[in-house]
Order: sequence, then C-alpha cells, then structure tokens
Amino acid sequence: MCGIIVVAGGQEVAESLLDGLRRLEYRGYDSAGVAMAVEGGLWRARAADGTDSLELLGMLVSAAPYQARSGIGHTRWATHGPPTEPNAHPHFDCRAQVAVVHNGIVENHRELRAELVAAGHVFASETDTEVLAHLLEQERDASKDLVASVRRVIAKVLGAFALAFIDSREPEVVVVARRTSPLVIGRSASASWAASDIPALIGRADEIFVLGDDEIGKLRPEGFEVWGPSGQRVHPGAIDVDWDATAAGKEGFDTFMLKEIHEQPAAVADTLRGRLSRTGALLTHAKQGSLYGHELPPPPRKAGEEEQGEPERVLLDGVSPDLLDGVRSVFLVGCGSAYHACMAARYGLERWVRLPVEVEIASELRARDPVLDDATLLVAVSQSGETMDTLQALQAAARRGARTLAVTNVVGSSLSRDADGVLYTRAGQEVGVAATKTFLAQLVALDLLALRMAGDHAMLAAEEEERLIAVVGGLPELVRAALERGDEIESVAEKLSGSKDFFFLGRHVGYPVALEGALKLKEIAYLRAEGFAAGELKHGPIALIRPGSIVVGVATRNPLWPKMMSNVAEVKARGATVVLVAEDGDLETQEQADHVLGVPAVAEPLFSPVVDAIPLQLLAYWLSRLAGHDVDRPRNLAKTVTVE
Ligand code: M6R
Repeated sequence: MCGIIVVAGGQEVAESLLDGLRRLEYRGYDSAGVAMAVEGGLWRARAADGTDSLELLGMLVSAAPYQARSGIGHTRWATHGPPTEPNAHPHFDCRAQVAVVHNGIVENHRELRAELVAAGHVFASETDTEVLAHLLEQERDASKDLVASVRRVIAKVLGAFALAFIDSREPEVVVVARRTSPLVIGRSASASWAASDIPALIGRADEIFVLGDDEIGKLRPEGFEVWGPSGQRVHPGAIDVDWDATAAGKEGFDTFMLKEIHEQPAAVADTLRGRLSRTGALLTHAKQGSLYGHELPPPPRKAGEEEQGEPERVLLDGVSPDLLDGVRSVFLVGCGSAYHACMAARYGLERWVRLPVEVEIASELRARDPVLDDATLLVAVSQSGETMDTLQALQAAARRGARTLAVTNVVGSSLSRDADGVLYTRAGQEVGVAATKTFLAQLVALDLLALRMAGDHAMLAAEEEERLIAVVGGLPELVRAALERGDEIESVAEKLSGSKDFFFLGRHVGYPVALEGALKLKEIAYLRAEGFAAGELKHGPIALIRPGSIVVGVATRNPLWPKMMSNVAEVKARGATVVLVAEDGDLETQEQADHVLGVPAVAEPLFSPVVDAIPLQLLAYWLSRLAGHDVDRPRNLAKTVTVE
C-alpha cells in the first residue's frame, strides 16, 4: 500500500527521495509527495495523477531551487479521502513547521480531529494522517524535545502506523515511529535512511535495521538512535539482506513480471538449497553445470544412514524440532496467491503426514471461532510478510495458544518476527504486483514442510520418502523446461485475445492451480475469469458455458484426471473453446484440446502445481500485454496490502 522513504543528510536529498519512491512503486499508489527541510523552512511538492504521479513529482522537484538537509517522501494509496493533491502526503501543521508521512490507519482520527479543530487547528485535507501533524504542532508548543513530542503523539493514536516527521526547527533530523505497519532504517557513511520496505534502501544504505513496534527512531546524517515504548534506548541489530541492486532492474526483459517468471528455476532451486540431504536430481543438474550459480547441496546419503541417527532428509533452517514435535493438526492461512499455495499444500500434508489440515483465507479466520490449541500448527503464508490480514490471523492463533510458523519471502518482515518459526522462500525480490516466482517458492517451501513433518512422524516408507525427495529435488529443471514453451503460449494467447469469458477448471491439486490461473488473468488482464473445482461444474457454473466461452483446464495426470476429462467433454459439448494444460506426450489429453499448454510431466502429481501454474502465468501475461495493459502495475492493486 502506501510507501515511505526518508533521508537525513547526504548531498542529494531530493534525488534520493525520488529514487526511493520509484523503488516503492510496486506497492501501488495514486498520488505522491515529498517534503524537505531547506534554508528558511519546509518545502513540499505533491502530485495526484494516478500512476503518473511520480513523473509529475519528479518535474516539480527538479524545478526546486533548494539544497535540502533532510526529507520525507510518500506514495499514497487513497483510503481516507480521494486521491487529490490536498490529500496527498506529506501533510503540514497549521504553521508549516512540521510535515508528516504515514502508512497505516489512524482509527481514532475523527475524535482527534474534532479535539484539534475545537482547539483552533485548521485542516487542509480529508485524511486521517493530518491529525498527526497538528498533534505534533500542539506537543511542540509545550516541549523543545522532538522525540518526546512524537512519543506523546503516538500515545494518543489508535491503529496501525509507520510514520516520519520533519520539523523546520531541526532541519537535519527526521523522527520515525511505527506500530504494526513496517518500517526499516538504513545507515550509510553520510546519511541515515528509513523506508517502508528494504528494496528502497538497497544500494543506498550499507546496513539495514528493523524498527520494532512502538519504537521511535531519530535519524541524523551521522547516525541514528532508537527508543522503546517507555523511552528506554534500544540497539537494533543489522539484518542480513542478500538482495542486490540489480534485482531491482529488468535485466533485458520488457517487464518485471516476465523477468520474475523466468527467474522461477532459480527461485525454486534457492528455496530447496541446502534443505534436502538426498538430492540426486539437483546433483545431476550440477553435473550439467546448471545449478544457477548456487552452492551444491550436501552429498546423497548412503543406505542405512537413517537408522544410524543421521539428520532428517529434509532440513528446515528456522523450524526447530520443538515447533513440530507433538503437532496434531495444521492450519494453513494466506491471502490471494498465498492462499492458493496453502490449498495446494493441503494435499501433501494430508497424504504424507496424516494429520487433519484446515485451509482458510486469512481475512476470514477472524470471523470464525476456530478450534486451535497448543497442538495446532498455524502456518501463515505471505510473500511480503506484511499482509495485515495474515499477520492478524497469526497473532490471533498465537493468542489461542497455537504454535505459529511463517512462510515468507522477506527476511525480518513482521510475520517472520511474530512467528515461533520461519521458513523463508528465498525467491528474491518480486517487483511485479502479480505473484509469480514467490508463489512457486511458496508451493515448494510447503512441500518441504510436508516432507519434513512426514519424516518426523515416520509416516513414509524409506523408499517412498527417497522417491519424493528425488522428485522435489528435480523441480528446478522441470520449471526450466516448462518455461521453454513461452512462445507457444504467446501464440495461444494471440488466438484467444479478445475473448471475454474465461473459466478455469481443475480437480485435486489442479483445483488451486485453476484458481491461481484465474486470479492472474483477473488481476493483470482485467478479464472475467472464474476458477472452479471441475466437479462443481454440474452444480451450477455449467449454465454459464456457451459457444465463445474459453475453458482452461488443468489436465495433468493427477488421481482425478479421468473425471477431469469427463468435465472437459461436458464443456466441449456446450460449445466452449477448450485450452488444456497437458503433459508432453499425453496425446489422449491433447486430442481433447483446441489449444494445448504443454508442460513436462512431474513424477509425483502432488508436486505438479509447481509446473502446471507456469503456462497459466504466461497465458495471463500475454493476454494482458496483447491488450496493452501495464502488467507490472495493474490498476487498483498494491503489492503489499497493509490494511484490513
Ligand atoms: O504478500 P502476500 O503473499 O501476503 O500477499 C497476498 C496477496 O495480496 C497476493 O498474493 C495477491 O493476491 C497477489 N496480487 C497475487 O498475484
């Protein structure tokens, strides 16, 4: 959602702010602004021109005649008040001595605004955020201490926030604070930084630190200090960030999304890296010199090692034996694509671990009264680790005594810090709003979790465990093979371009893949795309099928393939154009399709979503491009959804 960038010091405050805002573009925005402490006061520029706001803001800022000492920048995703210039951040107090940017929601803004108006403050916007500037104005009248004043301001605020203030009386200082909404601090030789997200600081800051809940940071050119909720000094440790600045570039691809789709073999290999103790398939790739530049996993184990007390075959850093020991049920939660990954994971967990598994949309969990206890493992899946609904689901489960595990792509994210254990997906930074490589990495991480738990529970015969591990280890190469069909999929998209009604069908593990395919098409191609469990077709949706309907079926050979093919026959009989995800060489399936999306066969059907999702990503991609849409920044969507 909204993005914040902050810099105190350095020679190029304005340029640094604009660069940071561009790197936060993926969070989505409809307006943008900066405020800087310059000679004689605060200078501000704001633009409310939808996704062109940053371009306009850049022109406004380049015309500014000032040398700034510090500054704050913001991309806004409208919540309180429409996306207009007066509602764009930063907001000033009555005297333009204080400016604030804010991500989150001030839940008691109406009450605070009424009190401030009664005290004579004049508001210039409809936002909840503006109360923060006026509250600081009030506090500063009573105190010379900026940090203490900010502490009193946030004590009055209910809700979630990451915020940054500048004050013309201390032009080299920026004060930041957060509760629930994310904020990271960075340090370089001549400046201090803060941002909503790590990518904005890559290549700028030498070290990155996470600001904790209700902590306040004071940033100056020569460094920063942090205080906890009761005013005690806090010394956060720098976190490991292994993303490099080149990850933020398109590297020859037209779009971030296409680049990220093609990074999937590496994302899957990285998610597996070092986690399989018997990885014949990965070693085979290494022999072919194609392990994507990553270190080799440990060598295969010899027969009989298990009985001699060797480590488990799936090794999950961040997931302690205590966390899994004695677990009697598993609850998987996530939103959007992460929820689909949870759905796909259920099949393996049930089959191999033989535990009850529930899957729920994170935002729905709070509406329920789920039965959770200390033998329940709540697995919260989120690429960003900042999705508010998923965070709240995890926190609610923890309050009920459940054990919690985060599956996330962002080191140091809120979810990773709140959970009892963390399984990182290691897909690298994903800029495109539509989840692609992070989705595949989630599928793989959850498969690893299932195999690890199956090993712990001794549920699998040794040969079967060995077979599954070999298949999972071979997934990077299958993902690479699936990507080689890119051109074929582009030509199928050309034939379907202009169609309006899409239906995605799947059964068994193909069902979540169908839902994910439909979601991709909706979000980037703006096409009506409904995903169904194919068995449900006859219970209603088949009424929608008519000549001209496009039915995309996931028809790889999972256990319900014969029934899936009966459903395909039903829609064909009603005039639909049938597009099938089918295995290479499976002529029986391919013959039933008007258009084939070919994929390599996966020797274990429960892992097939990792491969079957790829042609659907590419189909959505090309249908979007052919319609002229911006695939990286689809309308109305944000990369990270930090509001409920
Ligand atoms: O960061 P998260 O994984 O928690 O995000 C969850 C969803 O918002 C996300 O998957 C969303 O549905 C994507 N736009 C899907 O492409």
